[in-house]
Amino acid sequence: MQHGTHFLDSLSLGKIVQIRERILKAQAEGKKVFRFESGDPNFGLAPHVTAALKKAADEEKTHYIPNAGIPELRKALKNKLATKNNIELPSFENVFVTNGAMHALFCAFQCLVQAGDEVIVPDPMWTEVVENIKVARGVPVAVPLREETGFQYLPQEIEKRLTSKTKAIFLNTPHNPTGAVLPKATLLEIIRMAKERDLWIISDEAYEDVIFAPNKHISIGSLAPDYQHKIVSIFSFSKSHAMSGLRTGYLTAVDPVLMERLHKIMRCSINGVNSVAQWTALAAVEGDQSNIGRMLGEYQQRRDIMIEALTGIQGITPFVPQGSFFVWATLQPSIYKRLNVKDADELSNTLAGLGMGSSPGDAFGATCADSIRFSFSCSTQMVKEGSVVLRQLLSGGPLR
Ligand SMILES: Cc1ncc(COP(=O)(O)O)c(C=O)c1O
Repeated sequence: MQHGTHFLDSLSLGKIVQIRERILKAQAEGKKVFRFESGDPNFGLAPHVTAALKKAADEEKTHYIPNAGIPELRKALKNKLATKNNIELPSFENVFVTNGAMHALFCAFQCLVQAGDEVIVPDPMWTEVVENIKVARGVPVAVPLREETGFQYLPQEIEKRLTSKTKAIFLNTPHNPTGAVLPKATLLEIIRMAKERDLWIISDEAYEDVIFAPNKHISIGSLAPDYQHKIVSIFSFSKSHAMSGLRTGYLTAVDPVLMERLHKIMRCSINGVNSVAQWTALAAVEGDQSNIGRMLGEYQQRRDIMIEALTGIQGITPFVPQGSFFVWATLQPSIYKRLNVKDADELSNTLAGLGMGSSPGDAFGATCADSIRFSFSCSTQMVKEGSVVLRQLLSGGPLR
């Protein structure tokens, strides 16, 4: 088969995957590695959640389940959305259980976007969002996020890019990769613009629970009960409950046509999320929530360690994340010169060869090539040790 003969050949496999491969190679060569490229919580499940997983297997809850999720979980999620997110849905049938937030994004774009439709997205952005818009044959329209304005998704910048082809405004708060959190005023402005032009709002809230005081997570769906029919709110068990491998997420949908399309795309893509994972998720959402706070406490500690390590180095400016588990740092030409690398891409690759994980800015969009992302979702011990090494590497002389 010839490469380039199919639409999917135009999508990349993702730069972070390439970096990960280099890290694993360095590890195989006996180097100590620091997994700062990866965004996977290192925590185990809360004990009652593990118990539910085992119980589901023991009770042979291993058969086909309803396409949009088991009713028990959908009902619990409707309740969680009402009490925690202030999103009131008419019925549990407005919650669709997906194979992670990733699959929720895939389904949302497949159901709402057609060839040529434009979707407003922040730039930088976790790339899978943009790729999923393209898979739906839509056109992502980037709104650059700037260091000077705290990487905020500015309503006036969004508004400038709205055209007759705009179908939806996508937002992500807390944001991957910058860690910026959107305030209520921005969310209200997005609602105003969407209402004026009858646009969809697609809100990715995968990091709702990884948010540092005094910041607070506000779900856009809670601010516009009268516009719920045009809002798709997306959540994940991956970060909130460290269940990334169990691939469980969910989205909200109120519009009957959207609901029907979702049933169709889900039937054709997964025909229901893994039954054991759903029973596990039910325990996670209904049981003791103290694990969320415990993990957050550790994330905060790791964030502070990493920020301290990256502060005061010539040519690199870290942004203190308000949420998520990433440090996004801006690079100046002086650091490339001192470290003898051409650009952020080469810096990230060189660091990977030394066992230090990171993700280069251009993995997240066209406007942020002079940036780099470090993740602190690996163990606190690894963050402690790795931050010392990272500071040495970035503040010293040529890396090559
Ligand atoms: C912004 C954002 N949204 C969604 C996801 C997808 O999460 P999952 O598919 O594991 O639920 C991620 C994962 O890294 C993410 O960073």
